[in-house]
Amino acid sequence: MTRYRIALLPGDGIGTEVIPEGVKVLDALARKHSFEVTCTDHPYSCEYYLAHGVMLPEEGFAELAAHDAILLGAVGDPRLVPDHVSLRGLLVPLRQRFDLYVNLRPARRLKGCPTPLKGDPDFDIAVIRENSEGEYAGAGGRFHAGTPDEVALQTTIFTRKGVERIARYAFELARSRRQRVASATKSNAMQYAYVMWDEVVAEVARGYPDVTLDRYHCDALAAMLIRDPARFDVVVASNLFGDILTDLTGALVGSLGLPASANLDPERRHPSLFEPVHGSAPDIAGKGIANPIATFWAVSLMLEFLGQPAAAAELMAAVERVTAAGRSLTPDLGGKAATTELTAAVLAEL
Ligand code: NAI
Ligand code: MG
Repeated sequence: MTRYRIALLPGDGIGTEVIPEGVKVLDALARKHSFEVTCTDHPYSCEYYLAHGVMLPEEGFAELAAHDAILLGAVGDPRLVPDHVSLRGLLVPLRQRFDLYVNLRPARRLKGCPTPLKGDPDFDIAVIRENSEGEYAGAGGRFHAGTPDEVALQTTIFTRKGVERIARYAFELARSRRQRVASATKSNAMQYAYVMWDEVVAEVARGYPDVTLDRYHCDALAAMLIRDPARFDVVVASNLFGDILTDLTGALVGSLGLPASANLDPERRHPSLFEPVHGSAPDIAGKGIANPIATFWAVSLMLEFLGQPAAAAELMAAVERVTAAGRSLTPDLGGKAATTELTAAVLAEL
């Protein structure tokens, strides 16, 4: 029997409420599809930071590396630890050390969930964000800080290798979907980095004659995603543009309690990391009303990546039967149900 070792990082706030729900559906799917899962719990969080002075100790990397995948809840508690400390102390180093260079965020319409779009259009978009370099490379500095002569430099770094590998991932993914890639840049206004991006993406595209490449300026793409989301299949963008576009596509899905993201090492040298998009939601933490669907979606992405596509699809189909029926929904979706009741409804469908 295939066995998967999953490292659980519940983190803070509602992260600790939704991860156990994710484990329940994972266990149910394992029984049904005859694979085995062993989950281990890891305490790295803001509370851990307060006790130990680090978000993730050095030995934590080796500990997590011994797993097939990582399932993360949410990290952050602005009342205890500044956000830049918690984010840069855990998620960012994990993405860098494990070279999780693909950030995949699917955005699709889930039946019965509220969307801000008029006319309730159907859409199914996979946004691929470059997760390792670009505008977030962290190169730069501040000089003469605090004086009238202050200078700040923040340098964007694109490498041919980095652009090529993210483009290749986008085209491979499009091949398994509707054979369309939209690439986002601002090569009209920034003539070095994004022009190289355009050239490398065009070169990669030549190896995929079955996939159509559309080039957009990121601003125009943002407008088009709202006007006509149905026309998009795979969208590929740099770190900064992908960050912004995925908040937009996340909002189209309807509630922060729904979308999930995968941080992938497609070469499988390191465990990939799967997470709901939302944070620790201090405003509702401890009330037992957090929507667990984003975590289920993260579990589905994880199962797909681990090689269990049937179980992954079955989970999302079960979720959608529950949302379509409008039963057992949490308050963010207009219902009155508790987190565990929504989980129970999905388990019943499974
Ligand atoms: P947030 O995503 O935690 O909450 C924003 C709003 O959405 C809140 O009103 C919250 O109640 C609601 N919400 C979020 N998830 C929900 C769910 N599953 N069900 C129902 N409602 C939900 O973002 P916020 O408040 O800006 O950040 C809180 C903390 O989380 C901060 O420390 C932040 O740094 C951290 N954070 C961590 C992330 C991660 O671990 N990947 C991502 C985003 C924020
Ligand atoms: Mg963002």
